[in-house]
Amino acid sequence: MKILITAGPTREFFDPVRYISNRSSGKMGYALARAARRYGQVTLVSGPVALKPPAGVEFVPVTTAAEMAREVFRRYRQTDLVIMAAAVCDYRPSKKARGKIKKSRLDIGLTLELKPTTDILAELGRRKTRQRLVGFAAETDRLVANAREKLQRKNLDMIVANPVQAMEADTNRVTLLYADGRVEPLPEMPKSKLARQIMRRVNALRT
Ligand code: CTP
Repeated sequence: MKILITAGPTREFFDPVRYISNRSSGKMGYALARAARRYGQVTLVSGPVALKPPAGVEFVPVTTAAEMAREVFRRYRQTDLVIMAAAVCDYRPSKKARGKIKKSRLDIGLTLELKPTTDILAELGRRKTRQRLVGFAAETDRLVANAREKLQRKNLDMIVANPVQAMEADTNRVTLLYADGRVEPLPEMPKSKLARQIMRRVNALRT
């Protein structure tokens, strides 16, 4: 089985040194990559994080959402399972200044105009043939309802719903939602253990 896992945040630049991003640490995605090795050949497409890539996986470092999209799309046809654990930025600055933006001497504010990035997972859902697709949903409220909506809209086989508090933490308490309507809450546990539990269930989804 060929497994593609994404992890970490993306960075969206508005000048050569400044970007917008999010709090993702990559811990969940890296734990999944580690746990997935026993099920097949693993590729880890990762945004910038402070973690060491696990041994025995193909490691593809990326920075922006556009780069992540490119690396994921070019591998999709040969892939059996995609797990999108990355916290892909939903928006990027509309313009990237060529030089470093100078602070205005007039001390006026600076407005950043943003435009949406490609929703990688939704696009994978549209192009799905034999692949199994697993997404993550980070929510502050209405966890299960919002996750179910994403599961359906993005044509996923399973979604891992977690409260945003799990970002940066070493443990996570998730609820798994399946395409067939099943909802499975799991107890709080270390991300390493959770990764093994998720992989076991994803593997059982095999058609
Ligand atoms: N995702 C993606 N490409 C994006 C944004 C998100 O592939 N541009 C994926 C994430 O990797 C995750 C899933 O979509 O697996 C859900 O991400 P989330 O941010 O929770 O949902 P959004 O669709 O961005 O919706 P919202 O931000 O409104 O909650």
